[in-house]
Amino acid sequence: MRGAAMSLPAAACGFVLFLLSLQVIQGQNNWGVTYTSTQICAVKGSTVEIHCSYTYPSRINATVARTFWFTKLQDKEPVDLRTDSKYLGRVQYSCHEKSCTLRISDLRESDSVVYKFMFTTNHGGKYSGSPGVSLSVRGLQVQIRGSRSCFSKTCTWAELKCHSSCSLPGRSSYLWYKNGEKINKETSSYSDYFYPPDSYSCALNAYKDPPSPSVCGHGHSCNTVMYTDRSVCAFKGSSVDISCMYSSYESITSKFWFSPERSRRWQNPSQPEDLSTDSQYTGRVHVETERGRSTLRISDLRESDSAEYHFKFKTPNFEWRSSLPGTTLTVTDQDLQVQVIWSSTGPKLICHSSCLTDRSSFLWYKNGTMIQGERSPSYGGQVDPADSYSCSYQKYRSTPVYAPKPFSVSRTPPGDIMKNDSVTLTCSSDANPEAKYTWYKGNQKLLIEEPQLVFSSIQPSDSGQYYCSAQNELGRRTSEAVFINVNYAPMLPSVSVSPSAEIVEGSSVTLTCSSDANPAANYTWYKENQILLQGPESIYHFTSISSEDRGNYHCKSENEFGRTNSTSLLLDVQYGPKLPSVSVSPSAEIVEGSSVTLTCSSDANPAANYTWYKENEDSPKASGQIFTITDFRAEHSGKYYCEAQNRRGRQNSTLHLIVVAGAWKSAATGTITAVLLVILLLAAFLWIRRKKKSVTQQSKGGERLDNRAQINMGTAATQRQPTEQEDDLNYSIISFPQNQEDALYSNIRPPQPRRHTEEQDDGVDYTTVKTENASSAPGTRRQDDFALYSTVNKTQH
Ligand SMILES: *[C@@H]1O[C@H](CO)[C@@H](O)[C@H](O)[C@H]1NC(C)=O
Ligand SMILES: *[C@@H]1O[C@H](CO)[C@@H](O)[C@H](O)[C@H]1NC(C)=O
Ligand SMILES: *[C@@H]1O[C@H](CO)[C@@H](O)[C@H](O)[C@H]1NC(C)=O
Ligand SMILES: *[C@@H]1O[C@H](CO)[C@@H](O)[C@H](O)[C@H]1NC(C)=O
Ligand SMILES: *[C@@H]1O[C@H](CO)[C@@H](O)[C@H](O)[C@H]1NC(C)=O
Ligand SMILES: *[C@@H]1O[C@H](CO)[C@@H](O)[C@H](O)[C@H]1NC(C)=O
Ligand SMILES: *[C@@H]1O[C@H](CO)[C@@H](O)[C@H](O)[C@H]1NC(C)=O
Repeated sequence: MRGAAMSLPAAACGFVLFLLSLQVIQGQNNWGVTYTSTQICAVKGSTVEIHCSYTYPSRINATVARTFWFTKLQDKEPVDLRTDSKYLGRVQYSCHEKSCTLRISDLRESDSVVYKFMFTTNHGGKYSGSPGVSLSVRGLQVQIRGSRSCFSKTCTWAELKCHSSCSLPGRSSYLWYKNGEKINKETSSYSDYFYPPDSYSCALNAYKDPPSPSVCGHGHSCNTVMYTDRSVCAFKGSSVDISCMYSSYESITSKFWFSPERSRRWQNPSQPEDLSTDSQYTGRVHVETERGRSTLRISDLRESDSAEYHFKFKTPNFEWRSSLPGTTLTVTDQDLQVQVIWSSTGPKLICHSSCLTDRSSFLWYKNGTMIQGERSPSYGGQVDPADSYSCSYQKYRSTPVYAPKPFSVSRTPPGDIMKNDSVTLTCSSDANPEAKYTWYKGNQKLLIEEPQLVFSSIQPSDSGQYYCSAQNELGRRTSEAVFINVNYAPMLPSVSVSPSAEIVEGSSVTLTCSSDANPAANYTWYKENQILLQGPESIYHFTSISSEDRGNYHCKSENEFGRTNSTSLLLDVQYGPKLPSVSVSPSAEIVEGSSVTLTCSSDANPAANYTWYKENEDSPKASGQIFTITDFRAEHSGKYYCEAQNRRGRQNSTLHLIVVAGAWKSAATGTITAVLLVILLLAAFLWIRRKKKSVTQQSKGGERLDNRAQINMGTAATQRQPTEQEDDLNYSIISFPQNQEDALYSNIRPPQPRRHTEEQDDGVDYTTVKTENASSAPGTRRQDDFALYSTVNKTQH
């Protein structure tokens, strides 16, 4: 097994010569690749890095899907360098933002070709940058100039030059080795006095490039050791061959392999000891020597065997030194893996390990079954996304690669989802290489590429169907959809009334309550906290609204997660004045010349204004709810109308004021004689009753006359006491329907005894006779169906 390029330390970039160091921008329409330099010269065996950067139009929202390097085309498509067996294990790609690097290690002269970079976007665009980077891989060599005339074993001076066909920078520092031993010279050339057995080798100091082959100072026979490989890697447990070519000017007395890393076990640290005697290698090393080639075989490799190995020989007069680098062995545990590399003709599979090269022999497996006839590190067959693939080398087997397996989206937490909850959807597909995820809501792709979709505070707008797709280089698979339904308690309901203009009694009115809720709310309508309606409907309807429907309404919306009351809505129903009620003050006897106040009151919305009329007079007597007649006279008696009016209508009530000032001045209107007779009879009856009471009260010492003992009404005035005092008068206010034949008297109540107080001496009992309103339909109420009769005492002089 030949050593493959181990990854050298980062600083170990090969000696690289930039013959042309100009920025080359290639491209059109903002698509382009810029190479830092287009020609690079590098030393054989070293590692080179080739850099470029790329651009594409920012107006396309593409992301770069793939970047790779290529040197050749196959079916007009570039072949990814990683799938080319010649480079197996020797190339590495890296990209940082839009700058990419190709690293090729263990350079061979056959690597001297043109390298180009290509990128593709997820929108399908692709671009490869010409002219690419032309790489030249050249060896270093020691050239000897000047005199080589030697006499016997003595030679003269000669000039030694470290040469490269890459033109080296003038200031480079060099390393020189004479017979394997480093000498103290740093210039590219120097003169030495040398002997025929001596050999020379040079290297560039700044890089850990391999040194040039050793050359004999004189002739073709001299002391040399040349290692076949700079570095070798092998799997743990396997065996490895490390070999070198050597020659000696004299006959060799001893030769062996050693490792400087074992020096602490030597008796003298400056005296290397044969590896065969080292207990760590007991039974595991075997050296074979044949015609100038020595091969060290180490079997059953351990990771601790990773070290640099050197060959040494001695002659009676000479000892080969070992500052010249030997062969570095790296023992690795399994790192075999199948690399999946996308190509335009489908996925390509590479059996990859840092240790393997194209010379290794592999086995390939499909669904665990070996595929006959596949030996190459690069799988040659068609890749089916339904199958899994693995490769093996010796006893090592890679893990299989496969497209995403079927999967489903899971949700945490389970159960009802409430607004503001934290909810996580997880899409997890078994896939190797690891899948990349894409989330969808409905048909819309989300900008989330994680396997988890996290809602830290979920909102109703997040409700919907979600699914995800998983994709790797071998295939793509999509999950079933999951449904997210975000529940929430009803929001503050909004209430509206239709029509929105003024509401008039009798019209049709609709109240609507509307509240956002999930699940949908059911509704309850309240009027002043009394339930009106309950159910899924949010509408409350009045076919013909009445004044009693005035008031504050609110609704409650409720679902299983909560309930919310709306603000209250004042429903203002407008209506014309109801039949006004009128009253007279004082309610006691009115002395001629005193003042009388008439008050009218009617239920109306908006509030009514009032106008007072007197019978047979055209112009109104007064406006306002209260009408005061100062200095009441007999001629003031008669019918008064109180008209209540708002913009919805008007309504009259009638009041009779009758002045009673003795028989000669009966104020009673002819139409009511019958009524007055009834009153008289009634009054007489009451008078008799009270007379008895009055006697008792007078004996208790009250100087005043008990006015309750007297009922002086109308014709009864003749019975009045001849005192100068104003006669107390009881009067009755009687309401009549206009159609007097319909009058009902059933409601007549006797005057109530009043509490006797000094201020109320003139207290008047009165009786109210109320009658049923025969026609209560609104349209007929405008008539002055009711009259209020008041009998006013007229002072006698
Ligand atoms: C690019 O993406 C942005 C934001 O996602 C969007 O507003 C814009 O329309 C996209 N442009 C194109 C050309 O797709
Ligand atoms: C490999 O296995 C998958 C499922 O595990 C199956 O669908 C496929 O057909 C198998 N392929 C072969 C070649 O057997
Ligand atoms: C959700 O969160 C918002 C903002 O923090 C808060 O105002 C609201 O009351 C919360 N809603 C629920 C249902 O918890
Ligand atoms: C909503 O209003 C009703 C009736 O006024 C009351 O009984 C209930 O407590 C109120 N509910 C809330 C949540 O305020
Ligand atoms: C309204 O919803 C609540 C909560 O879901 C329920 O308890 C109630 O019975 C419902 N009322 C009607 C009338 O549907
Ligand atoms: C009373 O109200 C009516 C209707 O609003 C109006 O036309 C009238 O002028 C008012 N009368 C008085 C005296 O204010
Ligand atoms: C009320 O009475 C007055 C005076 O008689 C009259 O002018 C007016 O039209 C009456 N109004 C109604 C509504 O009957």
